Amino acid sequence: MSLMQFPIITNFQISVMSSLVLIVLCVATATAVRATPHCDFPAIINLGASNSDTGGLAASLLAVPPPYGETYFHTPVGRFSDGRIILDFIARSFGLPYISPYLDSLGTNFSTGVNFATAGSTIKPIQVQSRLTFSPFILGIQFTQFKRFKTKTQVIRNQGGVFATLMPKQEYFDRALYTFDIGQNDLTAMFFSNMTLQQVNASVPDIVKTFTSYIKNLYDMGARSFWIHSTGPLGCLPQIMTNFPFAERDAYGCAKPYNEVCQNFNLNLKEALAQLRKELPLAAITYVDIYSAKYSLFSDPKKYGFEYPLVSCCGYGGKYNFSNNAPCGGTIKENGADIFVGSCPNPHVRVIWDGTHFTEAANKVVFDLISTGAFNDPRSPLKMACQRNIT
Ligand SMILES: *[C@@H]1O[C@H](CO)[C@@H](O)[C@H](O)[C@H]1NC(C)=O
Ligand SMILES: *[C@@H]1O[C@H](CO)[C@@H](O)[C@H](O)[C@H]1NC(C)=O
Ligand SMILES: *[C@@H]1O[C@H](CO)[C@@H](O)[C@H](O)[C@H]1NC(C)=O
Ligand SMILES: *[C@@H]1O[C@H](CO)[C@@H](O)[C@H](O)[C@H]1NC(C)=O
Repeated sequence: MSLMQFPIITNFQISVMSSLVLIVLCVATATAVRATPHCDFPAIINLGASNSDTGGLAASLLAVPPPYGETYFHTPVGRFSDGRIILDFIARSFGLPYISPYLDSLGTNFSTGVNFATAGSTIKPIQVQSRLTFSPFILGIQFTQFKRFKTKTQVIRNQGGVFATLMPKQEYFDRALYTFDIGQNDLTAMFFSNMTLQQVNASVPDIVKTFTSYIKNLYDMGARSFWIHSTGPLGCLPQIMTNFPFAERDAYGCAKPYNEVCQNFNLNLKEALAQLRKELPLAAITYVDIYSAKYSLFSDPKKYGFEYPLVSCCGYGGKYNFSNNAPCGGTIKENGADIFVGSCPNPHVRVIWDGTHFTEAANKVVFDLISTGAFNDPRSPLKMACQRNIT
């Protein structure tokens, strides 16, 4: 993984660039071309589930065991991957440090952002009996935590002293990038209940409505820039393909009807956000079609240097190296012997890490794809996510 994210700029280049900037500025002024400068987000505020959890669940409910984190951090750090997640790459692209979990009470620095995501979070409370368990920190609770965070951090800043330096400035709340990755667990909970797929599909508009109501709540509190991930293709996950072996497969081996429900969710979300854009005059709302970005890793793995895209790297058994009772990092008994469920030898050429989450390598590719804007509505690149009028 290359760390050469930022090009090295020499003094000579700077002086050449300054002249260019001057020329461009003159031309721009003369022709009254509207400039679209890159956004300068001083902080990131994230709400979500495991795909964007930077340690919230680990700080509150459940330690994340090895081999999670082994590729990059060389120890588990509460992320559901072998290394960094998409939110880490988003933060780095703005020169910001890792975004700290709100629930982490130990020596935590919130000066450039806060993360309310926990693995297993849903948009709505789970109304069905699901065979899986989920996080109590649903979106509504994350919003409640945000409200307290916004007030309390300013009280602490006004008190001064050592803790004040760990809190974001007040102005950051309006200028921050608000990111979201949530909704997959609402669908998954229902997939693993006695509901039919048609029933799950029919519940989508209600879930999306709840989702967008919180975006509006955040807007009412001053948030302006929103970067909202759609759900991924859940039908390509080993967890779904193992548990629903008779579901129809598509050309790349993914469980088609499950992906169709995800697509319906995403279409609903995209349309609801288009509507919201009309209602909230100062909001820059970017819908990020992360489904298509992720799906391209399954449809054309070689292009991105991946192999066995449907097989879990850290898992155990079956066609997809996944079993419900042998989670990544767990231990199983086989013929009386304990077997540790560890990592495959080369996670950097693999897409799926643990049956439901992506490897760092896959997360980086997905980040590169979505940050260009090619998958977004409007087609706004990440660096422009504060601009309202991008078409
Ligand atoms: C908190 O993070 C900010 C931003 O990275 C940094 O400038 C500051 O020194 C940190 N504060 C402490 C006490 O580590
Ligand atoms: C699912 O099971 C619950 C009880 O466990 C029952 O009340 C409900 O009607 C069932 N729903 C469907 C769609 O079969
Ligand atoms: C889901 O619902 C949408 C909208 O009602 C419909 O167009 C679509 O065919 C449904 N898909 C499935 C898989 O039931
Ligand atoms: C399946 O998981 C095991 C760990 O239990 C790992 O050693 C193995 O390499 C994985 N197989 C594949 C094909 O990734």
